[in-house]
Parts: sequence; C-alpha cells; structure tokens
Amino acid sequence: MDIEHAHPDTLIAQALGWVDESTRAITLPLHFSSTYLRDPDNQYRSGRVYARADNPAFDQAEALLARLERGQQALLFASGMAAATAVFQALAPGDHVLAPKVMYWSLRNWLMTFATGWGLDVELIDMHEPAAVQAALRPGKTRLVWIETPANPLWTVTDIVATAQAAHAAGAVLAVDSTVATPLLTQPLALGADIVMHAATKYLNGHSDLIAGALVARADSELWQRIRKVRAQVGGTLGSFEAWLLLRGMRTLHLRVRAACESAQRIAEHFDGHPLVREVLYPGLPGFAGHDVAKRQMVGGFGGMMSIRVRAGEAAAVSVAAHTQLWKRATSLGGTESLIEHRASVEGVGTPAPADLLRLSVGIEHVDDLIADLEQALAA
Ligand SMILES: Cc1ncc(COP(=O)(O)O)c(C=O)c1O
Repeated sequence: MDIEHAHPDTLIAQALGWVDESTRAITLPLHFSSTYLRDPDNQYRSGRVYARADNPAFDQAEALLARLERGQQALLFASGMAAATAVFQALAPGDHVLAPKVMYWSLRNWLMTFATGWGLDVELIDMHEPAAVQAALRPGKTRLVWIETPANPLWTVTDIVATAQAAHAAGAVLAVDSTVATPLLTQPLALGADIVMHAATKYLNGHSDLIAGALVARADSELWQRIRKVRAQVGGTLGSFEAWLLLRGMRTLHLRVRAACESAQRIAEHFDGHPLVREVLYPGLPGFAGHDVAKRQMVGGFGGMMSIRVRAGEAAAVSVAAHTQLWKRATSLGGTESLIEHRASVEGVGTPAPADLLRLSVGIEHVDDLIADLEQALAA
C-alpha cells in the first residue's frame, strides 16, 4: 500500500508521509529564513524569493490540507480571519456578495463595516433557505456567495450542492467556511464549492495554542491568484513555527474529530428534552431543522459544536456557565478541552443568538464527566 492510495486517517497520521531527504528525518526541519538566495545569473530557480510570499514551512501542511479537501492548492494564513478576508479583498469595489445572517460574528462584523466601507455590496440573507438565495442572486453582478455550515452559533446547515448550483448559474463563486465540519466530515469542493476556508486555530490545530487560517481552491483561477497576492502583499502570513505546530496538531485530527463527534451526539441526546433545557441545537438530532441536509453532506458525524438554550432564561444561562467545573468558560472551539460560552455576551448587539443560549465546544474528555458537570451546573 503506498501513501498515495491510503485512507485519509493514514494520510493525516503520517502528514502525507513526507521525510526530509537530506537527513532522513521523519519530521521535516523548520525553516525560518525570510529570504532566499538569487542565482548568479539573476534568476530564482528555487521558486522562492521572500517568505511573505513563499515559505517552505507551509508546504507540508498546505499539501495535506489540499489533499484532505480534494482541492488543487491550499494557502495558510495568519488567522482564520486573515484567510476569510483575503477572499473578499480579492474582489473589486462594487461587487455584490451574499453572506449568511447566521455566521461567525467577527467576519459578519468586518463585512458590514470595513468591506462595505471599501465598496463591496454585501447582502446578508437566510442562506439555508434555497428560495432566499435564488431571490438574492443578481446574475452577472453577484461575484461571491459565502456560506458557513454548520454555522455559528445556531448550527444552521446550508445545502452546499444546491447553493453551488445556484451560485454558478448566476456566475458567482461559492466559498464555504467549513471550520466546524473539518475536512473529515464534509468536503465542500467535491460538493461543488470553489473555495473552502478553515479557521485552523480550531479543529485542524486542535490544542488551543495557536491562531492560523487556511484556504483551499478546487482549481486555479484568476480569483485564486488574486487571493494569493492578497496574502503576499497585505501580509497576513503565518509564522514558520506556527505552521510546524499546526502540522503537529493536524496529525491527530481524525482521532480528535471522531471523539468530539461521538461525545457531542451523546450530550445532545442526553439534554434533548431535559426539563431544564428549552432546546438543544445540534445537526445530529433528528428533530433539528437542518438534520436532513446535514445527513446528506456530513459523513462520519455531525461535529463537536452545539448550543443549549436554558429554560429559565439569560441569567440562568450565565449562571450555568459560571457553575461548570470541567467545561472551561472561554470563547473559541475545536480544542481537546471542552468550552462553554454565553454567546450573546460575546456577540453583542445584532446577534442572532438568543439570550438564553450557551455555545458548547465538545472536547475529547470522557463524555460521562462532561454530562455530569453540565447536570450539576444546570441544577445549581
Ligand atoms: C467558524 C469560524 N470562522 C472563522 C473564525 C475566525 O478564525 P480566527 O479566530 O483564527 O481568526 C472563527 C473563530 O472563532 C470561527 O469560529
């Protein structure tokens, strides 16, 4: 069995099986150089000039990510936000863009302030409603449709196949924030999307110890070349050591994601119908609005993210978060440790998060401990 034909779990565990040819090291050496030697005849045959544009420290993680997402090329960025905003910055003033009302709040905030200020015509819609997408698309004018699925913090599921078809029919590109689904549970490019974005800070790294982002393209294109230039020229590049740490984290992605999915499903089922819980929002619950679409486009689990609405209201929700002992009160997601967060407090004015909502990032601790801790916090 050669690595080329191996299962994704094997590709991940061996990070594509790369070794350092000069030393036979199993883990590739780190490159910190900011610049590269020019040939005596004034050429750059190495293909590398300056590390803001081309850093060998990114190669292995980018290659692994491209392979997992079944894309042609990948780019690492200094953060998920740097990756996401690079896509919008590659557009031109006046371009029409569709984005969901329910999405990662900081990107929504940037879109409605800086991006619109710069001249993008950004329209927020109910992206999970195919009729709303059809009605909002302006053929020839809409350049980009941005979706996030499942989407923060309500875990709204958007049909990637249907949205890609609608976007393409109108001449637009479809980009998907697939941070929560990870490359294991959903492969948006195979479902018709053009670009996938990951906040690599989350599941890809998985240890809550670095900030990073990534984009993967189904194919090279003029837009992708502009995105590449945005990274090189605006300079949202990842550090070499962070890229190395990211790859180390990625080597256990399959184990962590599988564990988080299994626990999240158990926790969702346990608290669904609980007397102190108004509602559990999780794509893996059959009664959840997006469950049927999620079943079609998510393979191997429904992710480690969910929200619960506390029946007694906002003050009780804040109190539950205050009383957890194992669940850490912190923002972010996708780490080995479970996190709990009163989401409306983070997002502020304009949030779609109900005031009684707690966002949960399920880690890889023993699930019985996580359930017991939530039970005692709810009872308190
Ligand atoms: C779904 C999603 N997209 C994008 C981001 C932004 O990533 P970063 O914090 O690495 O900039 C986040 C961060 O929370 C996120 O949850």
